[in-house]
Amino acid sequence: MISKIGIIGAGTMGCGIAQIASQNGHDVIVVDKEQLQLEKAKASLEKILSRLCEKERITTEDKIAILNRISFTSELKQLTDSDLVIEAIVENINVKHEVFKAVEEIVSESCILASNTSSLSIASIGSALTNANRSIGIHFFNPAPLMPLVEIIPAVQTDEQTLNSALELIKGWGKTVVTCKDTPGFIVNRVARPFYGEALRIYEEGIADFATIDWALTELGGFKMGPFTLMDYIGNDVNYAVTESVFKAFYYDSRFKPSFTQKRYAEAGFLGRKSGRGYYDYTHPNANKEAKKDESLGHYILNRVRCMLINEAIDAVFMGVGTPTDIDLAMTKGVNYPKGLLKWVDEIGHEEILEQLKQLFEHYGEDRYRPNPLLRKMAANKTTFFPV
Ligand code: NAI
Repeated sequence: MISKIGIIGAGTMGCGIAQIASQNGHDVIVVDKEQLQLEKAKASLEKILSRLCEKERITTEDKIAILNRISFTSELKQLTDSDLVIEAIVENINVKHEVFKAVEEIVSESCILASNTSSLSIASIGSALTNANRSIGIHFFNPAPLMPLVEIIPAVQTDEQTLNSALELIKGWGKTVVTCKDTPGFIVNRVARPFYGEALRIYEEGIADFATIDWALTELGGFKMGPFTLMDYIGNDVNYAVTESVFKAFYYDSRFKPSFTQKRYAEAGFLGRKSGRGYYDYTHPNANKEAKKDESLGHYILNRVRCMLINEAIDAVFMGVGTPTDIDLAMTKGVNYPKGLLKWVDEIGHEEILEQLKQLFEHYGEDRYRPNPLLRKMAANKTTFFPV
């Protein structure tokens, strides 16, 4: 039974995870090495809960109870009687190793030690422990209290009991849970790469501008946000760093190649909304170009980005990163895609998507566009991922 939960790191993620855990009745201890960060986290949590009160989502009594169940401290030793510790500190393997080692020394044998890492391997983080069977990845999305998806990542060392406890707990919090293999980017941050990468490539080739690409994907494709609007939300520095880390982790597979355009935008400080300017200018919204609403160009853009996304989702199935159901859930609940990519390929037809990829592969002669063997097989056998 997981009752007491320790969270290490009182930043964006740690704070959000603490809120969810407390809302679900757990006693929570949040540890951060920076006193100021602890104070900021506490103040921000109070503000968020007050807003929820105003909106009548929770009562004043709920708010008080939620806050009372959370304590903030800079002393790691306060975590001694935790049943689960979730680490959400800086994304640095050496620092994570130090912290995991220190935590293992003070908690009980049965305490589960989880990491919220986005890009490091769970096997590597767990290797700092004497008993790595209890290590696992529990990957929330930002903002954690609002995003329904959580990826659960057992490492090669993780035992069945740890996996089952983590699954049961997070499902019990009402989250949509998917299990994925300990591979770079897990499901979402891997399968979503072409949404940004192929859009940037289309722009770099001079085929269309930002507004037109965004229009094609939102109006014709049904995506909630176009890739350039979304990158401006995420921040070009953050999105570029994820792309680069996935690219390196895949031994420089050209499917994940980062874009110079994005790198230059990040270098120039055009980070997106947070800096006032990214692909779009948020200080003078009228300065932005109108989309060129040419249907045939729009369909070319949509097909190109979508067939690359589908190829990536199929590769994730092919490589056993997740089940087809989990992969579709991850993309609809983690990044709000209008439809699961595997359901989409079933609907459009595997042969059609294969043909689109083959054309790109032939035209560019680049490995990046190689159709996945599973797609070829399914097109040949006329099979689908889900029953029709
Ligand atoms: P953040 O920078 O907002 O917070 C990190 C906190 O950890 C800071 O308050 C810092 O003082 C504290 N910290 C650093 N070293 C520490 C140590 N040795 N002991 C105790 N506290 C320490 O970072 P954020 O964005 O919350 O990310 C945390 C983790 O969550 C990272 O592993 C990141 O990859 C992952 N993540 C981030 C997401 C995001 O959108 N920001 C989404 C999903 C996962």
